[in-house]
Amino acid sequence: MKQVVLTGVKPTGMPHIGNYLGAIRPAIESANKGSQPFVFDNTDAASFFFIADYHALTTVKCAKELRRLTQEIACVWLACGLDPKKTVFYRQSDVPEIFELSVILGNYTAKGLLDRAHAFKDACQAGRDVNIGLYTYPVLMSADILAFGTNFVPAGKDQQQHIEIAQDIAQAFNAACGLQVLVVPMPRIAKDVAIIPGLDGRKMSKSYGNVIPLFCDEAELLRCIKRITTDSSAPDAPKPKDHLIFQLYKHFSGKDMDTRIGWGDAKQKLFEVINAALKPMRDKYNYYMENYGEVEKILTEGAARARVAARGTLERVRKAIGV
Ligand code: TRP
Repeated sequence: MKQVVLTGVKPTGMPHIGNYLGAIRPAIESANKGSQPFVFDNTDAASFFFIADYHALTTVKCAKELRRLTQEIACVWLACGLDPKKTVFYRQSDVPEIFELSVILGNYTAKGLLDRAHAFKDACQAGRDVNIGLYTYPVLMSADILAFGTNFVPAGKDQQQHIEIAQDIAQAFNAACGLQVLVVPMPRIAKDVAIIPGLDGRKMSKSYGNVIPLFCDEAELLRCIKRITTDSSAPDAPKPKDHLIFQLYKHFSGKDMDTRIGWGDAKQKLFEVINAALKPMRDKYNYYMENYGEVEKILTEGAARARVAARGTLERVRKAIGV
C-alpha cells in the first residue's frame, strides 16, 4: 500500500533561523530521502506539501499582502531544497476539490469539537475578533488532509489537536455512511525540536522581536548578530559555553567555538558561519523571487497532480453521500 505523507504551511512571513533549523531543514531532509519520485500508482510513498493560503485568510485581508506572503514562502521552501520532483508542491487555493470536501465535512463535524479548538478558544479569551473562517479552520485543515488519503501528517506540537480533529471527522464520516471512505490520518509530531535562542537569549520568536530572518541581506544579518546581548567581560576571559553565540555557532557549524574570545570577534565568527551556510540558499531565494514565473510553473504543475489525487477521493465521497 502506498503511504501518503502530507503537510502544509501557512504563509505568515519570512521564517527565522529557528524555524529553519527546527522545522524546515528536517522536513526537507526527510521528504528528500523518505519518498520515491512521485509517480501515481507504482510507488510505495507519496509526499505532498502545500501552501495554506486560504488558512491565512483568517487574518490577512489585503490581496497584495497575501500574494507577497505566498510568493515568499514558496521561494523559501524551494531555496531550502524542497524537490518538486519528489514532493507534490502546490498552493491550496489551486485545488478546488479541497473546498468542496470542506463544505461536506462540516456536516460531520460536531460543533463541540470546534468550540474546544485551541486557536479559536485563545482568540475568544484574548477578546480578538473571531470570524467563522477561524472557527471552521480545523474543518478546512481536515479537508486538506483527508482529500489525499493521507496516512501521516508531520507537524509541530501546536498542530496535534487539529490532526486529531481530522481523525474524528474522518471517523464520523465513515460511520455515517457505513463505508471506509476516508483514511484516518496519524499525526507525526516532531519531538526534541531544538529550541533556538533569539537575540535576547529567550526562545527565538517573532512575538519577542528577537529573530534573525532566514533570508535578508548580509548587512542586515550582521546588524542582527551585533544586537545579541553580551556582558562587559574582558576579551580573554572565558565566556559561558551556553551563551547563545556559542549555541548558534554550534547549530550552524557543528563545532564548538573557543570561549576565550572577545565578544566582538565571537560575533564576527558567528556571522561568518551563518552567512556561509545561508548564502547559497539566499542566492537561490533571490533568484526565485526575481524569476517568479518559474515558481508559478512548479506550483501549477503541482496543483494539477494534486487535483488528480483529490478528485479520486471526492468521487468516492460524493457517491457515499448521494450527490
Ligand atoms: N495549520 C497549519 C499551521 O498553522 C497549516 C496547515 C494547514 C496544515 N493545513 C494543514 C498542516 C494540513 C498540516 C496538514 O501551521
